[in-house]
Amino acid sequence: MTDKKVRVCCGMTCGVMGSGKIMRKLEAETGLKAGEKNDKMDLNYCSCTGNCHLAPSVMVNGNFIHEANPDTILAEIEKAAVLETQDPGISDATIEEILSNDFLHEE
Ligand code: FES
Repeated sequence: MTDKKVRVCCGMTCGVMGSGKIMRKLEAETGLKAGEKNDKMDLNYCSCTGNCHLAPSVMVNGNFIHEANPDTILAEIEKAAVLETQDPGISDATIEEILSNDFLHEE
């Protein structure tokens, strides 16, 4: 049973604002790659969450983290993980969405 479903927005605005760096931080800290899960975390990109003005956007069990920062994201995830699970109806990103956003892949 995975206790945290973490989704990092792969939309254009979030990519520009650093969501790729957030994903790389999470991958480095968890040993997971986007699209993988273990008993603690299910990690992936999602489509635009509709919070572009508060980019980068991350969801934890459907709860939003706004203006996510690689330095604080792990603590923010732990805080969000205790909230009641929500279903904002945002789908996981397709591989085409991920590959088409060059900003996600910049260092
Ligand atoms: S691009 Fe991430 S919330 Fe819209």
